[in-house]
Amino acid sequence: MVSEWMINEKRHAGEEHFDAEEVARFDEKMPFDPSSEIDILLEFGLSEGNTVVDFGTGTGVFPLAVAEHCDRVVAVDVSETMIDVVDEKIEKRGIQNIETIHDGFLSYDHQGDPVSFVFSKDALHHLPDFWKIEALKNIGETLEEGGIFRLRDFVFSFDLQNSHKNIESWLDEKKQSTIFADEELYVHFREEYSTYGFLLEPMLEQVGFEILESTYEQDFYAEYICQWHGSPT
Ligand SMILES: C[S@@+](CC[C@H](N)C(=O)[O-])C[C@H]1O[C@@H](n2cnc3c(N)ncnc32)[C@H](O)[C@@H]1O
Repeated sequence: MVSEWMINEKRHAGEEHFDAEEVARFDEKMPFDPSSEIDILLEFGLSEGNTVVDFGTGTGVFPLAVAEHCDRVVAVDVSETMIDVVDEKIEKRGIQNIETIHDGFLSYDHQGDPVSFVFSKDALHHLPDFWKIEALKNIGETLEEGGIFRLRDFVFSFDLQNSHKNIESWLDEKKQSTIFADEELYVHFREEYSTYGFLLEPMLEQVGFEILESTYEQDFYAEYICQWHGSPT
């Protein structure tokens, strides 16, 4: 049920993810090799009978790769422009076991048996913290007891006393090493909701996930493997 006080997920999802020209350039701007992610899920028991749900799937790089290792993949994104691109790729490659769903972290209503694996990369930071918790609750409801949630996102682990200095050096480095316009880099801090790892970890735990592994990369990125138990661990 949607009420007036609830967040509009689309409005927070990043304008560039709805713009056809921007979306057409997405794979070039944010290249992603999913093979190590597949290896991790295989290590945690991914097998042919499983279903995997990918929240904030973007152009579908992950679902297209994981589909050959499982029974069914559900690719969820709040942007219809992204979903159209995934649908085109699925049709072109003749893949039968990927279902695309135009929905958000919050509005997605899982149908059928709970699943063994949920994946999400570079998407959760679009929601402010209260809504991150609501999203994590929905991910938990999608998973079976003991199911695995692989989360990767922009998460901070720099010294908070030197936040400005750290952000300035990150921006300098990205301006040199990526094709993102300066404005696109500033948006991460000005308009999106990345948070510190020391805040995100208790959120995951309060919702009912056990964090099995956490990795923090270069102060601005984190990767978690979490297991769903349904109550704080
Ligand atoms: C930076 S892209 C990442 C795409 C893909 N996961 C990847 O790593 O290649 C973020 C994606 O999250 C989607 N997104 C943002 N907010 C969302 C929400 N509330 N629910 C579902 N998807 C969302 C955007 O539309 C976009 O496709």
